[in-house]
Amino acid sequence: MIRLKDIRLLKFMSAKVERGTDMKSGLQKLDFCETRDCGRTTKSILKLNNISKSYKDKVVLHNISIEILAGEMVGIMGRSGAGKTTLLNIFGFLDFADSGIYEFDSRIIDIKNENLKAKIRRDSIGFVIQNYALINQKSVFYNIAVPLICKNKPKEEIKKCVEEMAKQVGVFSLLNKYPYELSGGECQRVSIARALVRKPKVILADEPTGALDKETESDILDIFKSLNEQGITILIVTHNEKVSNCCNKVYKIIDGEIS
Ligand SMILES: Nc1ncnc2c1ncn2[C@@H]1O[C@H](COP(=O)(O)OP(=O)(O)O)[C@@H](O)[C@H]1O
Ligand SMILES: [Mg+2]
Repeated sequence: MIRLKDIRLLKFMSAKVERGTDMKSGLQKLDFCETRDCGRTTKSILKLNNISKSYKDKVVLHNISIEILAGEMVGIMGRSGAGKTTLLNIFGFLDFADSGIYEFDSRIIDIKNENLKAKIRRDSIGFVIQNYALINQKSVFYNIAVPLICKNKPKEEIKKCVEEMAKQVGVFSLLNKYPYELSGGECQRVSIARALVRKPKVILADEPTGALDKETESDILDIFKSLNEQGITILIVTHNEKVSNCCNKVYKIIDGEIS
């Protein structure tokens, strides 16, 4: 049974997989039909206009305007407490801004429309976070499957999808294990598989390598680069230069403003 706490974690999940073939990094290639040929385009996928956010008297984000194009891999840097997670959560509808306009896929989103936001979050956005947000009492298979279980997909379809995803991110042999039996890098691979299992257009990653050693960090960055090469838009917040060096565009948040 899924507990209330776990259901909160499930908000992070989205994506469905079509099929996969080999690729040079040793990972399998994802074939994301909707974005397959788009690469980097001039099509706006995420756009914030004059977004502001305060907590009580503390202004965290001040009139932020930023546009992410479909197929980009964008880094957002800033010191601890600069507002990176707040911004990412606004992008992913996990938090809301006090003012400003949000566009997703070139469409202005009514931030009061909870159903629409939930649908976009569920169907189009995959979340990857630093501490993985895996359910410890459940197998790796179950953890990857959760977004599909929540959608009441047939068992056979879930099995096929999960196995395919697990192969693609290199955790197939771990499907029967539990998160507490895995290394940090393996946990992050599982969480990426979970984020991808319902085919998101966008991945939002919050310090995805923050808890990993350098070598494992490189492995995880390779996965992100591969996914981006296949057309998935990736937004990573980090304070790590190495991570941001993998991005084709980097923004910095300083004193609530972005540059
Ligand atoms: N729910 C909250 N309530 C009050 N203050 C918050 C909340 N979430 C974040 N903050 C504050 O907002 C600022 C930015 O936080 P955060 O976005 O987590 O920064 P970062 O991810 O860059 O480290 C911090 O000063 C933090 O204490
Ligand atoms: Mg943060």
